[in-house]
Amino acid sequence: MANKNIEDIIILGIETSCDETSAAVVKNGREVLSNVISSQVPVHQKYGGVVPEIASRKHVELVLPVIDQALKEACIDLEKINAIAVTYGPGLIGALLVGVSAAKALAVALDKPLVGVHHIEGHIAANYLQYKDLTPPFICLVVSGGHSHVVFVEDYCKFEVLGRTRDDAAGEAFDKIARVLDLGYPGGPLIDKLSKEGNAEAIEFPRVYFNDGSLDFSFSGLKTAVMNYVNSKMQKSEEWSKADVAASFQKAVVDVLVNNAIRAAKMKNINKIALAGGVASNSLLRQEMLKAGKANGISIYYPNPVLCTDNAAMIACGAYYHYIRGNYADYTLSPVANLELESIC
Ligand code: KG4
Ligand code: ZN
Repeated sequence: MANKNIEDIIILGIETSCDETSAAVVKNGREVLSNVISSQVPVHQKYGGVVPEIASRKHVELVLPVIDQALKEACIDLEKINAIAVTYGPGLIGALLVGVSAAKALAVALDKPLVGVHHIEGHIAANYLQYKDLTPPFICLVVSGGHSHVVFVEDYCKFEVLGRTRDDAAGEAFDKIARVLDLGYPGGPLIDKLSKEGNAEAIEFPRVYFNDGSLDFSFSGLKTAVMNYVNSKMQKSEEWSKADVAASFQKAVVDVLVNNAIRAAKMKNINKIALAGGVASNSLLRQEMLKAGKANGISIYYPNPVLCTDNAAMIACGAYYHYIRGNYADYTLSPVANLELESIC
């Protein structure tokens, strides 16, 4: 079994908010000892999206074996764990309930502290695992299947949401357009790949900015514009290029994300921007963010793809900063499907 120095803090993290069942062991907030992710993507693929009831059942089947595997890979006994951390929202309520119940049962049985973590806070914390020297304050662009947030990370546990989507999340838009183009699920990586063969300037799709000064996003108009373009080409039996549509759509999303993140950094006078969430794996987003960062004297951070997608190491990392502040949950912790990020401050 692994040696544990007296001052080491070892946290077991559990994540079941959507379609990945994950458990991880993280030492002192930044060192990943294990990060086991069991993806349900193949199960949901044939439905073209996540089916909540199936996701919950799969989590029930997988959560204990995945926790066992995480402990085994970390070579650590359960008694050596200092705290149990779990995502308690936002997410699919039935899916969250499985992780929260498992975490509570372990915490009670072992008489260890329980730490509840906001899922978006976890995505942000993935950057601490990637960059050992990264410290707040910074701006974080959190873009996933369920969220598009521009967050001012003032301190480890202090967040201000500067902008958010008013309709679809960025990843959701990628997934829906992939369906229109008949590419498969999840659509983000497929659009990313196909775009490399297309011309991003071929079609001028709309970019939405709000003139009330807000940093909010809206992707539903863009989605409709892409659908209208494709339908009109098909109705007129005109030739069109899937790759050009994918590339032009992707460029429209990326332009808005990059612009709002840079505006946020300028607004708060911050020279660090981190990316987080599944869409942070997007190659054009990374490339354009680096370009804009260079032009504006802002350092850009993004985690490896495995830390962008849902995983429990990011949850254990986020929990560490609550743990050292003595911010524990009590055993009545319940999942909250639409948990607000501000509410954890
Ligand atoms: O963070 P995540 O794993 O789960 C949620 O919390 O939602 O994000 C999944 C989303 C999906 O919508 C997927 O299509 C998108 O991230 N995604 C991408 C890429 N890889 C994953 N979107 C664009 N480009 C990618 N390379
Ligand atoms: Zn997520």
